[in-house]
Amino acid sequence: MTTHKVGYLIGSLATASINRKLAKALVKLAPAELEMSEISFRDLPLYSYDYDPDYPPVAKAFKAAIAAVDAVLFITPEYNRSIPGALKNAIDWASRPYGTNSFARKPSAVIGTSPGAIGTAIAQQNLRSVLSFCNSPQMNAPEAYIQFTPGLITDDGEVTDASTAEFLRTFMQDYHIFVARVRSVLPKDA
Ligand code: FNR
Repeated sequence: MTTHKVGYLIGSLATASINRKLAKALVKLAPAELEMSEISFRDLPLYSYDYDPDYPPVAKAFKAAIAAVDAVLFITPEYNRSIPGALKNAIDWASRPYGTNSFARKPSAVIGTSPGAIGTAIAQQNLRSVLSFCNSPQMNAPEAYIQFTPGLITDDGEVTDASTAEFLRTFMQDYHIFVARVRSVLPKDA
């Protein structure tokens, strides 16, 4: 069995984050071929290119964590019709210093949940634009805009609605196929 390491980034820093619950559900529903681990960006300072000559250890570790995985998965809320500032800050760190963009050729997918009816759709479109510039091959479909209703996913990541669980399982299966396909055409050291 060929396995792929997936690093997932949760866009929310909130203790009771519904996107963290979604992340737990996705880990449970992922095919066995995907080794899922969180890449935290909680402790990164605000990025400035003043840091470029000498990244602080926390930022070096963050870039190393992305380098160590075969693919990334973004699980993000929508804040003011875009992605949370902390997530954008993390992407900016990873994209620099110039010439060392951690997302280049790294396959990605985007998913998110919100209580609102459009389920983070606008934030995801924003994020896709950022990832395009970062040269990350993205899974185009299925799109996944999850409207979070009370109790939909428990704190432990159990999905209480059968059709939502099936949809998320299919999303992760398709993501696996996408990652395997992209990795198969990349050079070994990419
Ligand atoms: C929100 N929320 C929100 N929801 C949405 O669907 N579209 C939006 O643009 C926004 N904007 C927004 C801005 C800010 C600053 C906050 C704090 C919240 C509501 C949001 O979906 C809700 O708080 C979710 O619980 C956020 O997900 P996490 O952080 O719990 O994972």
